[in-house]
Amino acid sequence: MSIAPIICIDGPSGSGKGTISRAVARALGWHFLDSGALYRAVGVAALSGGYPLDDEPSLAKLALHADIEFEDRIDREPHVWLGDDDISEMIRTEEAGQAASKVAALPAVRAALLQKQRNFAQPPGLVADGRDMGTVVFPHAELKVFLTASAEERARRRHKQLSEKGIEAILPALLREIEERDLRDRTRAVAPLVPANDARIIDSTSQSIDVVVATVLDWAHAL
Ligand code: DC
Repeated sequence: MSIAPIICIDGPSGSGKGTISRAVARALGWHFLDSGALYRAVGVAALSGGYPLDDEPSLAKLALHADIEFEDRIDREPHVWLGDDDISEMIRTEEAGQAASKVAALPAVRAALLQKQRNFAQPPGLVADGRDMGTVVFPHAELKVFLTASAEERARRRHKQLSEKGIEAILPALLREIEERDLRDRTRAVAPLVPANDARIIDSTSQSIDVVVATVLDWAHAL
């Protein structure tokens, strides 16, 4: 038996899973794991250390031993340090996202991060946001949700998010990057982005965040 109940929320970037997972965790008063931030931190560590992004043995060692610190914050994106450097902003760039997607395709890197992710499962419960939370990291989770949205809608959301931060971005370029990342995440040999057999699927293309959060909370309360 697991020491804490777990809700997995998996899906592609821009499906709204970050915002939705955090809102669900906050409503339940549970811990929150942003597993993408972990892969992004390894991506940033690899870029800043000058590692080729396909050097699997070195990157696995980096994932295991890099001095990456996480501050679990329910209200906003986690604060992340690499050694003494605050990389919270840096991990959110497209460059870090692409690097994360490349290092995440390496089996030894995924294996190195497995236990770190499982350590987040603490009472009273955990909401885990990622790509393979329900399939690989927490296969016995009490509730698994797979969130989707069309690539065009996800690109529009990303564009809005960036312009709110004052970052200029070109919509067709964002769409291309999203499609490229989706393809890599869906077709990689280990832990590809696919729904678990027992996942409940939600298409958020035309549903508000609030409606999706309410649906997941209804399911959680019925557990
Ligand atoms: O959710 P995100 O955009 O922050 O994730 C960044 C990249 O990390 C994404 O392209 C795929 C990878 N990732 C993964 O392979 N497995 C996870 N559980 C989370 C993220």
